[in-house]
Amino acid sequence: MAEVTLDLRGLPKAQAYADLETHVAAVLDGVHDPIAAMATMASLLHFGFGTLWTGFYRVVEPGRLLRVGPYQGTLGCLEIDFGRGVCGTAAAEERTIIVPDVTTFPGHITCDARSRSEIVVPVFGPARSLIAVLDIDSAELGTFDDADRDGLERLVRWFERSA
Ligand code: SME
Repeated sequence: MAEVTLDLRGLPKAQAYADLETHVAAVLDGVHDPIAAMATMASLLHFGFGTLWTGFYRVVEPGRLLRVGPYQGTLGCLEIDFGRGVCGTAAAEERTIIVPDVTTFPGHITCDARSRSEIVVPVFGPARSLIAVLDIDSAELGTFDDADRDGLERLVRWFERSA
């Protein structure tokens, strides 16, 4: 059994994501359950990086509706329409969105007033269809960059391979 805690703060991001991926693979060894994987990733990311809100919105009506999945943080919105806010836009456009300052994103949905910046990454299943988005919110401006995009897009490929 891998260690339960992982502190990724202070590591170069590429190293942090490589460690994280190894950890996730060890915890999920032999488990092919996307909800268990979402819960595991949300926990390791959240406590590893010390972010404000970390979790998944699942596609419950393709092209129309996201519903909250496993997460860590204060109460999240329950449902988000495709095209609304950062999550809904990332889902509709099936691309990663980095928002350095949430006040500049038209239609940003504020679930926690402390949120200052965020990244949302699309999650694809084995058939390359969108199954969810991964949303990470930070209490600081400009937390996320291309290294986070690369690390997170790589991490969520677990769902294409193993779900
Ligand atoms: N930040 C998201 C809303 C979800 S919560 O912050 C958990 C958005 O604008 O899509």
